[in-house]
Amino acid sequence: MDNLFLGRTLGKDVFNQNGIIIVAKGVILTVSHMESLKKHGIQLKASDVIAQAPELKNERLISRAAEEIRDIFHAMKSDGRVPLDKVESNILPAVYEASETHDLYGVLSGLQAKDDYTYRHNIGVAVLSNMLGKWLDLNEADLALLTMAATLHDIGKIRISDYILNKPEKFTDVEYEQMKKHTVYGYEILKNTKDLPPRVALVALQHHERVDGWGYPNGCKGTDIDYYSKIVAVADVFHAMTSNRVYRKAIPFYKIIRELNDEGFGKMDPAVISVFVKRIMEMTVGSQVRLTDGRMGKVVMIHHHDPMRPVIRLGDTYIDLSRNSHVTIESITG
Ligand SMILES: [Fe+2]
Repeated sequence: MDNLFLGRTLGKDVFNQNGIIIVAKGVILTVSHMESLKKHGIQLKASDVIAQAPELKNERLISRAAEEIRDIFHAMKSDGRVPLDKVESNILPAVYEASETHDLYGVLSGLQAKDDYTYRHNIGVAVLSNMLGKWLDLNEADLALLTMAATLHDIGKIRISDYILNKPEKFTDVEYEQMKKHTVYGYEILKNTKDLPPRVALVALQHHERVDGWGYPNGCKGTDIDYYSKIVAVADVFHAMTSNRVYRKAIPFYKIIRELNDEGFGKMDPAVISVFVKRIMEMTVGSQVRLTDGRMGKVVMIHHHDPMRPVIRLGDTYIDLSRNSHVTIESITG
């Protein structure tokens, strides 16, 4: 399936050979639209879909998908059924489209939780997992499965009380044990869902497992943890750190990258971590940054051997952070 236009808005009516409309102007393209176009031998061109400003587009896409998943989770609290059709048609196209961005600042501000962390987090993890899946060269079928799994990874939270989910203070031991159960609850919900591959349920169960065996719920180690769970774990930790939470502000971007790089090794899959850090850093090229000594500049080049310490342009001069250990990047400002 050609995913290039998934989630984009169609700019004109598309007809079959008999002049009958297959997909109407204004529709947001879903998997089933793409399949029906393919069945009629119709290939879309870039000019068939509407162009949008990247930052606005990401913010709008992510907000709408977060509202959608909130409604799905709420409905599930009463009827217990996972509406896979709605996830496929109303959420995955937006996730695919948001993950196509090359604008790191735009995607990070879009993913940053406003007052809806619980729901926006699911979309954030799905977008970041989708990006990671592409960077790790997954094929289309695997990428679709990973993205579905990432979207539903925290679905077990529908069985955790709002008091615990929104608690601003530190958990008591009892509350922490309760919170950890969202993994097992998610697994139970998804494994009993018809038409859903078992690996999707496994990601809900294992996304808090760590390769050193210190994760939960089962303390699995290394190869006992499914590859998709390891990918979602990196996206999950990164998104949680970039978000404002009830108990703390978002952590500065470079602290997160450094922490992921240093702390992540040993706890998370090293191959997944290093690809993530390298590719996210590559996305910073062209971004405005503030250095730890207060100077403002622009990222112009990433070193492959040391992606976290790029070359920065400061007005007419350049500073190579890989040769200046006393200064580093504090934050991305635009
Ligand atoms: Fe979780």
